[in-house]
Amino acid sequence: MKITRHQWPVLIVSGQFHEHTDEGFRLAELIEELEEVQDCSIIPSFTYEDAMEIKRSRADIGAVVVDWNLPEEDSTEKSTACELVRKIRARNATLPILLLASRLETEDIPVEVLQCIDGYLWKTADTIEFLAGRIVMHLDRYTASVYPAFFGEMVRYAQEYKYAWHTPGHMGGEGFLRSPAGVLFHKFFGENTLRSDLSISVPELGSLLDHSGVTGDAEKNSARVFGADYTYYVLNGTSNVNQIIWRSQLVRDDIAFVDRNCHKSLNYAMVITEAIPVYMIPRRNMRGIIGPVRLSEFSPESIRQKIQASGLITPDKKNETPKMSALTNSTYDGVCYNVIQIKKQLARSVENLHFDEAWYAYARFHPVYTNHFGMADDDLNNEHPPIFVSQSTHKLLTAFSQASMLHIRNGSHVTVNPDEFNESYMMHGSTSPQYSMVASLDVATKMMDDSGGIIWNDTIIEAIHLRKKMITILKDLQKKNADDWFFGMWQPERIKLDNEWVNIEDVPAEVLAKTQSAWVMSKDNPWHGFNDIEDDYAMLDPIKLTFTTPGINDHGEMTEEGIPASLVTNYLIDKGIVCEKTDYYSFLLLNSLGTTRGKQGSLFAELLKFKEAYDRNAPMAEVFPEMVAAWPEAYGKVGLKEHANEVHRYIREHRMLDRMQEAFQVIPDQAMKPADAYHAVVRKNVEYVDLDKMMGRIPAVMIVPYPPGIPIMMGGEKMNDKAKPIWDYLKLRQDFENAFPGYESDIHGVERTERNGKKYFQTMCIKE
Ligand SMILES: Cc1ncc(COP(=O)(O)O)c(C=O)c1O
Repeated sequence: MKITRHQWPVLIVSGQFHEHTDEGFRLAELIEELEEVQDCSIIPSFTYEDAMEIKRSRADIGAVVVDWNLPEEDSTEKSTACELVRKIRARNATLPILLLASRLETEDIPVEVLQCIDGYLWKTADTIEFLAGRIVMHLDRYTASVYPAFFGEMVRYAQEYKYAWHTPGHMGGEGFLRSPAGVLFHKFFGENTLRSDLSISVPELGSLLDHSGVTGDAEKNSARVFGADYTYYVLNGTSNVNQIIWRSQLVRDDIAFVDRNCHKSLNYAMVITEAIPVYMIPRRNMRGIIGPVRLSEFSPESIRQKIQASGLITPDKKNETPKMSALTNSTYDGVCYNVIQIKKQLARSVENLHFDEAWYAYARFHPVYTNHFGMADDDLNNEHPPIFVSQSTHKLLTAFSQASMLHIRNGSHVTVNPDEFNESYMMHGSTSPQYSMVASLDVATKMMDDSGGIIWNDTIIEAIHLRKKMITILKDLQKKNADDWFFGMWQPERIKLDNEWVNIEDVPAEVLAKTQSAWVMSKDNPWHGFNDIEDDYAMLDPIKLTFTTPGINDHGEMTEEGIPASLVTNYLIDKGIVCEKTDYYSFLLLNSLGTTRGKQGSLFAELLKFKEAYDRNAPMAEVFPEMVAAWPEAYGKVGLKEHANEVHRYIREHRMLDRMQEAFQVIPDQAMKPADAYHAVVRKNVEYVDLDKMMGRIPAVMIVPYPPGIPIMMGGEKMNDKAKPIWDYLKLRQDFENAFPGYESDIHGVERTERNGKKYFQTMCIKE
């Protein structure tokens, strides 16, 4: 499809569309001229309110024409042309707004409106052709400015319909047309996608590997928008970004200071660099939610102690400064750190800072996150080492999957040399970049640059509405029955506003969205359960929605009855609602750019349906027919409530949450570096070992149970007495899966084998 003027409708707001007056006839002629001669499309709107609604829901409007004077009967006191113009301008700084007015009316137009508009159209004086021409001139100029550098060039190139004599082999999509499966593919993805899949040899698009041409321009623009000195586009996800960062700064036996709550890619970063890790340990609250690493862990003394205690760091290296610290910001559940505080602590005790912000690329665009992201500007200009930030632009902004960004800010005294850095980038980059992914990064940047603040304000407000609605649903239920229950949210119940405590459901969402202190964790409002948390240090991201299920209270006490969260999320999946993460008694949903009120409404409806099925102990066959079909003996004769409580009792009696807590507080002895453990895999010096026989053995791979998605063991660590809580926890998970078929949850690094109808965990260990 060719992008033409037609795809950018002109919104015309007037009450005179069908009037049999001179102005009415001229308006009809103007529309005809725009549609027939100028190939425009028109959206008519009769009231200012309606126009505002259209503008709010459509970002493809190419120009707005506002009749300054709607007839009396259509105008209301609350909405005027003046207000409409101001509101549209507040949401889009460059969209052309033209006022349709008579010569006399222009004298009454206030300055504040004049400052917002791009011109007048005289209702009666100018020719129709001229008026249409003015609109089209503004529209064309605006729509040309919408293209960011790379994407604009790519569209231009694709629309030149060149004959391709280069890779990829389908050559602009033609190759697909040779067989039915290919035709299907062509039809599904469409010609534009295929014609813009180009070779690195197309000079117009610059080069990703040496950051030249429009690609380099796009990266530089992203650096400006995201607050970096340098930004690199990376096409194999943040997994690749993390490895590029580490490869650029660490070599064999360098010390790294790593969040234990790290993504697997950091484990592999340790493998490829052959670094020696010492770990930061994140706190967990009594509900089992992963919280922040305490600020005190970043003190030079604490780091020194960890280095001293490491069995792998040789005495001659014990006084070395870690080459890198890597912190996950934010955590899965949306705990984000005051980076200014961390920078101050780590200013001299590490050589480079790395914030893994895979889930958090938007933070710079809304003031509620001030100071809580890696590229935050520090008003006090505190000293700091170079800062690296990795962001999966694709996760919560609008890039294609795997399209990520790597941002660098130079240190106060140490600058990063881009030529040196590029060696690592090249090592991890393909010579066949997917240009649609590059374009998606360019466009994600432009979206944030143009209207990031507005987009994120809307998104945060939506998330807060959802949070408040959850509270009011429970209150409504309890009006009828004081003992009734509903799912909860992990969030403050009340906050301090102007020195008064108020319940959050009583505070407007707009106020909560701009009040950072409402979300910052503190000791005097311990809703978060991290009792020893430092003040002004960690905050909850309002868009990360952790729902809680009954079964455990905020003090960690398990109640008589309960609903393990996996039952709820499995139910939701059946209804087409897919959650981000499921824990024992909580599950996470993300409110993002793509979340609409409609989606929220369906969620509430399904949660209420689950509650209804639970309360009446609906037969499992009705709620989970597939589960009953697969295991009729285990689940065929019970109801949902009975089943939920059976699983809950198991978790309670076996103290699974406590055991998990204990397991995650242990950092096992390091028998060898993660890299050496991997080298054993390469040399085939490994074998699968049953969990029952694993005491004394060294896993060659990392073990990451979901929930909670944090490594419980790294490759090269020893399963000995110190690590017994880890073994106990894994054993408990194995027993649990045997007790409840169908409850297998993912554990990276663990394979399951079946003997005599029983499941056994196995892990790849170093041969003895
Ligand atoms: C903390 C963290 N870092 C890095 C990644 C990897 O990101 P990507 O999927 O873009 O490779 C993830 C993915 O889930 C993550 O959670």
